[in-house]
Amino acid sequence: MNNGKMIRSGITSATLGALVAAASGLLHGQTGDAVTLQIKADQVTAHVSPALYGLMTEEINYSYDGGLYAELVRNRSFKEDAKDPVHWHLVQEHGGTGSMALDPSEPFNDAIATSLMLTVTKTAKNQQVGIANEGFWGIPVKPHTRYRASFYAKAVPGFAGPVTVAVVSNDGATTFASAQVPRVTGGWRRYEATLTTGAAAPSVENRLVLSTGSAGTLWFNMVSLFPPTYKNRANGNRQDIMQLLADMHPAFLRFPGGNYLEGNTIATRFDWKKTIGDVSRRPGHMDDAWKYWSSDGMGLLEFLNWCEDLQIQPLLAVYAGYSLHQERVAAGEALEPYVKEALEEIEYVTGDATTTWGAQRAKDGHPAPFKLEYVEVGNEDQFDRQAGSYDSRFTQFFDAIRAKYPQLKIIATDKTTTRTPDVIDEHFYRGAEDMASHSHDYDTRARGGPKVFVGEWATRVGEPTPNMTAALGDAAWMTGMERNSDLVIMSCYAPLFVNVNKGAMQWRTDLIGYDALNSYGSPAYYAQQMFSWNHGDEVLSVIENGVPTQEWQPPAPRRRPDSPAPTEPPALPPVRQVPMLFFDATRDSKTGTIYVKVVNRAGTPQPVRLEIAGLAGLERKGQMITLKGDGPDDTNSISAPAKIVPVTTPVDGISDKFSQTFPAYSVTVLQMKAR
Ligand code: AHR
Repeated sequence: MNNGKMIRSGITSATLGALVAAASGLLHGQTGDAVTLQIKADQVTAHVSPALYGLMTEEINYSYDGGLYAELVRNRSFKEDAKDPVHWHLVQEHGGTGSMALDPSEPFNDAIATSLMLTVTKTAKNQQVGIANEGFWGIPVKPHTRYRASFYAKAVPGFAGPVTVAVVSNDGATTFASAQVPRVTGGWRRYEATLTTGAAAPSVENRLVLSTGSAGTLWFNMVSLFPPTYKNRANGNRQDIMQLLADMHPAFLRFPGGNYLEGNTIATRFDWKKTIGDVSRRPGHMDDAWKYWSSDGMGLLEFLNWCEDLQIQPLLAVYAGYSLHQERVAAGEALEPYVKEALEEIEYVTGDATTTWGAQRAKDGHPAPFKLEYVEVGNEDQFDRQAGSYDSRFTQFFDAIRAKYPQLKIIATDKTTTRTPDVIDEHFYRGAEDMASHSHDYDTRARGGPKVFVGEWATRVGEPTPNMTAALGDAAWMTGMERNSDLVIMSCYAPLFVNVNKGAMQWRTDLIGYDALNSYGSPAYYAQQMFSWNHGDEVLSVIENGVPTQEWQPPAPRRRPDSPAPTEPPALPPVRQVPMLFFDATRDSKTGTIYVKVVNRAGTPQPVRLEIAGLAGLERKGQMITLKGDGPDDTNSISAPAKIVPVTTPVDGISDKFSQTFPAYSVTVLQMKAR
């Protein structure tokens, strides 16, 4: 990405926040050498939406399979490749021999047509022949941990041998845990085993091995291995990653995408009905938007359970008849089945057990309906290049949803003319200066139209996860969303997850990174956590003066792929003055705590004079939570997961006029208490 370039530094006389304050009758602060911040505690300019900070998710960068979804076996139903049992290997130990192959003549069920056939030709004492799964970049072993293994198998008549299930190091030298299934019989049957590790050191260079010492032919399918899951859910999620999410204190989860909702084609959209019920009957599908197989083990009910486990709201996006390769369903009769599908999906989520789809959800294991407030129609429908297409499709969805579920708030993903959505979803992926330079955009946005949901946003600097520069751009942007939270009622960063192994990432700059064993939050993750944890319900008027700026030359706008090649180099947009400091202030109306956020993008510490008016007084002592990097490229990683984390320090000497210095490359929340 060309992010433009910095030109030189300056000082603003007053930021846009001050201009807004001035427009509403407040005085400008004085311009001077020092940066001053005038906080008017008796001027509440907005209320902070309780749903401002949420999560967005989709199957990208191995977010579920190989990520949050705790299944450890890769290609468990042998559908990833039609010809080869990819991620599976033949094991022939101590002279035993055999072969393995996909066998389409042994269908497992209607959804899974091919099985893995293992033929054991020669064995003797201590000889094992079997199949081994490499996992998603390894099978994680942790000490004193119980794993639940299960598989379906059948054998030729007369096969008498037991099957050993074991987690073994890749070099075969160490068996960390093993169990035996006494006898595999003629018809398809499910077998289970518990594998418990001992005092092993954590490792990932391991595989799951199913083997036998008896000659004969066996077929396998739905081979599964789960470690302990978050809240001990069957078919559940990884504990460490769920804990990282819980620690963000999010308000909602937007799912199932993103491009993953739409698919490249209508056939590869997120077809929710194929993602519910017994996992061994789910067909899975090619996630062609991000180019890998999705087991759909993370299906509609699992998304809802995820919300329940974090005690957050689901924000359901329904497929709206447009897929990324410009496949679309015309509004009218042809779209009706898709509208019906969306209404049924809402019924699956919210209906009680007397409704058809509520009853299905109860049968799937969740009798209680889920609370749903927001439904989003489609994703990024501005990319539908047919004029008027979204407008007419949205109208049809809007009318049907409003008629059946009048209590739901409906989110549009592009501008509409015939119906007014309750909320409009806006997405922003930008470089650091670009993001910072836009952080005052909502200050001047007209109110009175739909509320705004910033449903995807990120400062895209750093890979696989954002670095400190990105965290600073994000924090600058968050000050703008928080300050304008009467308008911006919800927001969620994207993408949320990345498996950091080579070959796993499709989209760089992702909030949380992991491998099979460990996970970590990026500096941007911690910046969000600081914002989400530390805000009041009232936005206070802030007037800034003397804020240093840098000139920034934005790059030429990117050409749409379908537009003709230009004959001349495109004109550059005007140079922008980008502030180096960003602020906002909120107050908790119940406790009186004031939270002042200060973002210092500069490479030097910044003294700021704070003047707080409109209060009887302030307690002398408060505290500061600071996230800072040693430099702009400083970051966290899988090997240094906690290099940059928020640090809380006491602050003494707070009064209605005091000075505080904010470190270079830092995000700070200053907490003060009104007397
Ligand atoms: O977050 C990555 C992708 O960016 C999403 O799938 C899509 O909605 C957007 O274009």
